[in-house]
Amino acid sequence: MKQRFPVILLAAAFLCLVPLTAGEPPGETTMLGLPPVPIPDDNPMSAAKIELGKKLFEDKRFSATGKISCATCHDATKGFTDGPLKTSKGIEDLRGTRNAPTVINAAYFTTQFWDGRSPSLEDQSLHPFLNPVEMGLLSHDPILEIARTDSDYVAMFKDVFGKKGKKITMDEVTKAIAAFERTQVGGNSPFDHYYFKASDDALTDAQKRGFDLFVNEGRCVSCHRVEQTTALFTDNKFHNIGVGINNIQNDVPELASAFLEADLSLAEVDVKVLSDPRTSEIGRFAVTHGFDDLGGFKTSTLRNIALTAPYFHDGSVATLREAVVHYNNGGVTNEGDPVNDFLSGGVRPLNLTDEQIDDLVAFMEALTSPEFAELMAEAEGGKP
Ligand code: HEC
Ligand code: HEC
Repeated sequence: MKQRFPVILLAAAFLCLVPLTAGEPPGETTMLGLPPVPIPDDNPMSAAKIELGKKLFEDKRFSATGKISCATCHDATKGFTDGPLKTSKGIEDLRGTRNAPTVINAAYFTTQFWDGRSPSLEDQSLHPFLNPVEMGLLSHDPILEIARTDSDYVAMFKDVFGKKGKKITMDEVTKAIAAFERTQVGGNSPFDHYYFKASDDALTDAQKRGFDLFVNEGRCVSCHRVEQTTALFTDNKFHNIGVGINNIQNDVPELASAFLEADLSLAEVDVKVLSDPRTSEIGRFAVTHGFDDLGGFKTSTLRNIALTAPYFHDGSVATLREAVVHYNNGGVTNEGDPVNDFLSGGVRPLNLTDEQIDDLVAFMEALTSPEFAELMAEAEGGKP
């Protein structure tokens, strides 16, 4: 199952589609193992747009307290997460119900958020600004006020979109943020060199055994997908793998019917799931209203997973080893706990030995992209 198409062709195709950040050498190796980033027709990339998006992503003025930006919870030096927090901390130290997923490779997801309630990166970025446990603004007006008057922004919006004053809307703000996010992609891991470049010494023996388990006995690959020439480690689908749902098992009928009766808009669902821990656990059901989707969450990418502890949608598991043990137990974190009624058929006890569990962990540690590991190491080295 080795690579069939020359990587160089993929890289060339990629470079035609995506101009990289100004100054970044457009190297083939950056993207090893990844398909071209999907770019919407109405939001083409440009270096100036990416720079504007980065500035918006890091601007703390777009929160009710002036202290929280997107980057607070998606910190580049923490793999674009807020680890080691289990669930995110927004304005006034208010806690949400869910673990901040990484923004790295979010560009490849066909839906955004753990429950996929948002259809695009552009739409996704509208919500944290207004969520009362995140950035806490009452409307998007304060953002537009700054974008239309701050002299740096005035120049940048004019340059990128040819617009100024009232012509600048959230459409431009969210497009710039999404363009920046589409540059935060990570491939080129030791696994990619091993699998797509046939570089046998890129992985240790334990990692190679781990990959074999990942594909065969562990059946991880049935959801965390690896294709012939690329690997996103997600199927972009939703599964109940037994995380968090036990907390609401007895109340599922009541919670589900209360949710349906409330008939919330998407913005209201965003607030409800992130502020009410019990409603959070209904997962994908909040979007589809289908009982098959109870406790279902989006298959995470496993790229850079070693940088983004803790794990699962509620951050309930601290280490990769505990995550594997959860699967080994057949979808329960603590052996002996009841298996929930809505568990995915793809999750069954695996009967792996301790050594095999270690091997799987070692394999996942081979999915780290060097540039993100370096950012993290530099930040940690810089600590007093
Ligand atoms: C207070 C912390 C916090 C802030 C501030 C925040 N986020 Fe998030 N972000 C989260 C959490 C938690 C989730 C998961 C929520 C869910 O799935 O229900 C998330 C999800 C996402 C996702 C979806 C990723 C995926 O795998 O589905 C993206 C993209 C994202 N945030 C970008 C942003 C952007 C852009 C901003 C600023 C406009 C922002 N975030 C502000 C915590 C935060
Ligand atoms: C039936 C589909 C499915 C299978 C099989 C599966 N996973 Fe997952 N995986 C998921 C889903 C869905 C999530 C997110 C679940 C949640 O947080 O509630 C996830 C999350 C994870 C996470 C945490 C990701 C994060 O960002 O927090 C790790 C680690 C993981 N899986 C590893 C594995 C390993 C190792 C295997 C094989 C032993 C495996 N998975 C098998 C669907 C699956």
